[in-house]
This record gives sequence, structure tokens and C-alpha cells, in this order.
Amino acid sequence: MSRVAYVNGRYVPHATAHVSVEDRGFQFADGVYEVIAIDAGHFVDELPHLDRWDRSLAELRLPPAMPRNAMRQVMREMLRRNRVREGILYMQSTRGAARRDAPFPRQADPTLVMTCRRQSLPGPAQVEAGVAVLSVPEIRWSRCDVKSVALLPNILAKQKAREHGAYEAWFTRESDGVVTEGGSTNAFIVPTDGHLVTHPATNAILGGITRDRVLSLARDAGLTVEERPFTLEEAKSAREAFMTSTTTGVYPIVQIDDAPVANGRPGSLTLDLNARYMAFSANGEVPA
Ligand code: PDD
Repeated sequence: MSRVAYVNGRYVPHATAHVSVEDRGFQFADGVYEVIAIDAGHFVDELPHLDRWDRSLAELRLPPAMPRNAMRQVMREMLRRNRVREGILYMQSTRGAARRDAPFPRQADPTLVMTCRRQSLPGPAQVEAGVAVLSVPEIRWSRCDVKSVALLPNILAKQKAREHGAYEAWFTRESDGVVTEGGSTNAFIVPTDGHLVTHPATNAILGGITRDRVLSLARDAGLTVEERPFTLEEAKSAREAFMTSTTTGVYPIVQIDDAPVANGRPGSLTLDLNARYMAFSANGEVPA
């Protein structure tokens, strides 16, 4: 079965799908994106992702390529044509193709691209093992709340983490030691008081859809949730740590830089939230 991509109104073979060399996404990273998980044949948290998509577009003054209902039809058609029941849908929209000039072009149709691929959340063995994170200086701009395709600092951070044998990078502000978030994940800790702590959804982080979902699952489970900044030092002495994202679910962190988190094994609250999220992901209803 060959993969199909959606590009500006057409379903085309993934291998030959293309946009213009003048596309402002390519030239300036002048675009936004979303990654939505597909589990048991349905989109996970589809509407919150689309709300964030609309918000990102509006914040960058990018015109929507099509109304939401039409988008949702294309999304479903992508799922059907690619026969993906467990995977991710990637969508990106840019300010379109125009003669290279920084200010907004007077006339350009927005580019809309979607791709789809099979991919699973980390399995039981990976979750049981957990992963390491490496702290890196926070060097990003002050609009991290926008899901823009300008990901250079994130890429460099994640590459550095990988070169140090870590799975994820934790952006850490040099001025006050606060961990904002990961290179493509949100950061959580459970300090010794047993509360669940994560950076508030300000413009310093991307407000993750998984983050929101996990906070709500945690509240339902009776946990005390604190949306407040925490430092790298606090994280290193925490009882548990984990990351969340569309592609990782709730992923235990067992090492921060050179220090094991607690006994170096995934924490019990983390594993419980992982199970709750997996159940939600598989069963989560598709709103009409
Ligand atoms: N990344 N923070 C950043 C910087 C991210 O890029 C992401 C998502 C998240 C988690 O958001 P969510 O729970 O909505 O996936 C937090 C996606 C998965 C990516 O770039 O592949």
C-alpha cells in the first residue's frame, strides 16, 4: 500500500508530493503545524488540536486554507486512503508561495499539506525502562505558545540530547533555573509532597494537548495538580518525572543529566497516569 499525501486540494503519492521552492514555509518557516494521534482508527483529542491550530494561525495572522469542516473531511480521507489505524496525522499550513520578501505577500494562497504514517506510542517495555533527559539552555523566542514550524532550537536541543544518550532535551532558563518544557514534549515532576507539577501554560511553553488531557485525568484520579514553574534542581530531587506529547503519551523519565530520578525506575504515579492516558487514547470518543 503506497502512502498518500494531501497537498493544496490534491491527494498525491507521498513520495512525489511537493510544494514550491518559493513557499514561505521553506523560505522563512512562516507556517504552523499540528500532529494528531490516531488510535484504534480515530483521532485522539481532535477538537482541542484543531482549536490550537486555529489559534496558531490567528496569532501569526495566517489565513485558514479552508474551514474546519472541510479540514475534518480531508483528515478522514487521509486516514482512509492511508489505511492507518494507529499512527499520526501531520498537518502544516504556510503563508503560501510568493517572491521572496519578508513582509506578508499581497497575494498568496496559503499552502496546506497533510501526511499520515503508522506509529505507536511507546510500548510496555519502553515505558517500563523509561528514558533520560538532558538539560539545555532555553534559547527560544517568547512565543513558544504558537505551534510554529520554526523549530531550529528544538532540533539542535534534541540532537544534543541524542548525542549524550538522552531521549529528550529539557529547556532550562539560565536566569532562574526553571525548566520550561522539552524539545517536543511538556515536562512534569512529582516532588516529595506527591503533587503533580508542570509549568503553567504561558507563552514560555507550547500548551500541549496531551498535557491538558493528563492534567484532567490526574485531577479525576484525585491528584493535587500545581501548574507552576519548577527548577532543574527541584526536578533532580523529585520523586518522579515524566514527559507528555502526542507521540510519547506519558513517558517516564528516569534520569536527568547525570542523576537518576529517585531510584532510577519509573514512578508509580507516572505509570498510573500512563495507563490512564493509554486507556483514554484507545477509547476516547470521536466528537461528532
Ligand atoms: N510536539 N512542547 C513542544 C515544544 C512540542 O513540540 C510539543 C509537541 C509538545 C506537546 O504537545 P502535544 O501534547 O499537543 O503533542 C510540547 C509534536 C508532537 C511534534 O513536534 O512532533
